[in-house]
Amino acid sequence: MSVIELKGAKIYVNDSIDELVKSLSEHFCEIYDKAVAERGRFTVALSGGTTPKSLYEMLATDAYRNRFDWNKVFFFWGDERCVPHTHPDSNYGMVKKALLDKIEIPAKNVVMTDGQENDPEGSAKRYEEKIYGTFGHYGDVPRFDICLLGLGPDGHTASLFPDSAALKQREHIFVANYVAKFQAWRLTATYTLINKSHNVIFLVAGDSKASIVKDIFQSETKKYPAQLVQPESGKLEWYTDRAAVAGLGGG
Ligand code: 6PG
Repeated sequence: MSVIELKGAKIYVNDSIDELVKSLSEHFCEIYDKAVAERGRFTVALSGGTTPKSLYEMLATDAYRNRFDWNKVFFFWGDERCVPHTHPDSNYGMVKKALLDKIEIPAKNVVMTDGQENDPEGSAKRYEEKIYGTFGHYGDVPRFDICLLGLGPDGHTASLFPDSAALKQREHIFVANYVAKFQAWRLTATYTLINKSHNVIFLVAGDSKASIVKDIFQSETKKYPAQLVQPESGKLEWYTDRAAVAGLGGG
């Protein structure tokens, strides 16, 4: 694995997807150990998408499953589709199959949305309350130990899509966001929540992402939603494979 430092981010470049998910799994363990030592628990906002699914499956293997005391782990979702948890598009449903069904984690530690597809605004409000409630304090914005993010070819992350209303949201930490390209509502963390995280980690792989990764790191303007992910005091890291950073030259 090689490391590139660019625009305040550390980019960890792996030779393959397998090496990528293993190195990120190791990094999860490191952050878990530090978080539990400092705060007694490990809070993670999970991402949807096919790339993160490989990570969840790796964390469920014997090599990693026993590295965590799941009673001290709290899972949240950085975004969700407005579908039932059993729907094939559900991010929660994907994580359940890839990881949750294979570990002994208390139900109260899995903080998911209520999946009300016909009440996106209400669902987002209820989830915002759940996040605050789980962290146990309402005064300040909760700080995830890890906010795991994917990256779409259009530069979206979580469900913060280009030209969508949630990009301007700063008061709320979790909102419903209408995505015109899908003609569908999504639920998403806002920058207010994401940028408070102790560690923001983008997990990006494959040659289909090379062009957007190049644009994000080499364009002077901030025109993609992913570029506004700038942790206030936490770390910004990209875990990638060589294909995804081919446009950066040093990958
Ligand atoms: C979602 C994700 C989304 C995803 C990117 C990348 O709900 O779809 O949160 O932001 O991470 O679209 O997805 P892939 O890793 O599948 O390319």
